[in-house]
Amino acid sequence: MSDAQATSVQDIQEVPDPKTLVEERLVIWYFLAALTYLVISMLGGLLMAFQLINHNPFSGIEIFSPGRWRMVHTNAVAYGFIANAFLGALHWAVPRLTLQPVLSRKLSYFIFAAWQIVVLSTAVGLLLGQAQGLEWGETPVWIDPVALLGLALVAVNFMAPIVKLKGPMYVTLWYFIAAFIWTFLTYAMGNFMPEYFVNGSSAGAVGGLFIHDLVGLFVTPIGWGLMYYFVPIILKKPIWSHALSIIGFWGLAFFYPLQGIHHFLYTPIPMFLQYGAVISTIAVELVVLTVVINFFGTIWGDGRKAVENLPIRWFYTGIVYYFLTCLQCSFQVTMTFQKLIHFTDWVVGHAHLVMFGVFSMWIFGVMTYLFPRLLGVAWYSKRLCQWHYWLSAGGILVMATDLILGGIFQGYSWAALFPWEESIAISIPFWMVRVVAGLAMFLGLFCFLFNLLMTWRLALKTNAVPKTGQHRAEPVAAGA
Ligand code: HEM
Repeated sequence: MSDAQATSVQDIQEVPDPKTLVEERLVIWYFLAALTYLVISMLGGLLMAFQLINHNPFSGIEIFSPGRWRMVHTNAVAYGFIANAFLGALHWAVPRLTLQPVLSRKLSYFIFAAWQIVVLSTAVGLLLGQAQGLEWGETPVWIDPVALLGLALVAVNFMAPIVKLKGPMYVTLWYFIAAFIWTFLTYAMGNFMPEYFVNGSSAGAVGGLFIHDLVGLFVTPIGWGLMYYFVPIILKKPIWSHALSIIGFWGLAFFYPLQGIHHFLYTPIPMFLQYGAVISTIAVELVVLTVVINFFGTIWGDGRKAVENLPIRWFYTGIVYYFLTCLQCSFQVTMTFQKLIHFTDWVVGHAHLVMFGVFSMWIFGVMTYLFPRLLGVAWYSKRLCQWHYWLSAGGILVMATDLILGGIFQGYSWAALFPWEESIAISIPFWMVRVVAGLAMFLGLFCFLFNLLMTWRLALKTNAVPKTGQHRAEPVAAGA
């Protein structure tokens, strides 16, 4: 054996087995918590959707009032579903990429417990009427410092393996590092500044930055980071262009933080800030295009995998919806278009397209890929996996198209100065379609949960449910 070969063999022997690095049980716990909150959130969404077509089964009961459940719906989705799912995926990806464990497994479990307490107390606080008057920052005031401390601990726990990294700094890790810093800063800005330091239109401007930065500087970087991790692994090839990855990352870093005020165009916020937001939003659309092109360049020549491999199909459906959302955004951010669609259901359609059509699709893809690996058995039913996909992808397409169209009708009826009741009457058919689409999405989730339950039972029968650091054979995920 030559020296060079001997070195490489030695290197290989020194590389720890990633399975011993990952606290798999915690990944499962995070995913289960995420799915629980998704069920709660979707039930809340359905409650409001029924209320809007005058079918509220709990009419007159304060704790079930749609106003409160709207906040539970959005908070449970952002902090319960998406944050928990991302934390689970981070616990899988970061140790595998860095070949180092997180700073402390005990800290990981502590953060898990603390985060669930934060999300649950938020839900209870909101239902009891203790909401803070900040959009997306409705978390009762006393929870804010605890949540911020939790975000700091998350950053420390994951940064420890990243700083010890000896190998290449993968694109995924750039996004994760950025997300740890940005999420902390965004949360602090959005929850403390308008509450204690600024008021009036300044508070509105900060609020606008906060709600958009929460999506762009917390959800987006972790979402893309996961795509940069899972897509090349499943396709077994590198990302198409490193240069485009760099442009995508730095473009997001420079332009995204400035655009949030586009939520409040035509308000007393100074016009130069509003125009600045419009310009930076258009810049972000171009940046987004580079990232989408990069991912299509990566799958080029392997297009069949988007049909045959379910996780890849989830990922690329999300990427297509991402492109559509951003395209939609480049229209809606112009002042001309804003005149028509401001405050209408167009915006609600846009919000669902990005939160469910993009980030939830990616999360479902990650879960579809990881659950069989975590449980040590293949999915109980590939057909149920397919139903989950089609009901979700189809349901969101119908819901988003319906609300976007409904928004245009509402906008025109307001512009024509029709009586308010007239615009409600125009909206009712669109709101009925939303109920049908929402039920389809919920049925899709039900298929997934039932499939998971049966897969779990299979795993128990074959004695494969993981204990900490336990090794198992890698099963084949549905369609993977
Ligand atoms: C069963 C399916 C769902 C139904 C029926 C539903 C329904 C609703 C309704 C009625 C609203 C309030 C709209 C308004 O105030 O006019 C809303 C808001 C919202 N929902 Fe859902 N939803 C569903 C699932 C989801 C999911 C899965 C997500 C995210 C992953 C989500 C994210 C949001 C967001 C971000 C908003 C706030 C929109 C805004 O402020 O513009 N929804 N939803």
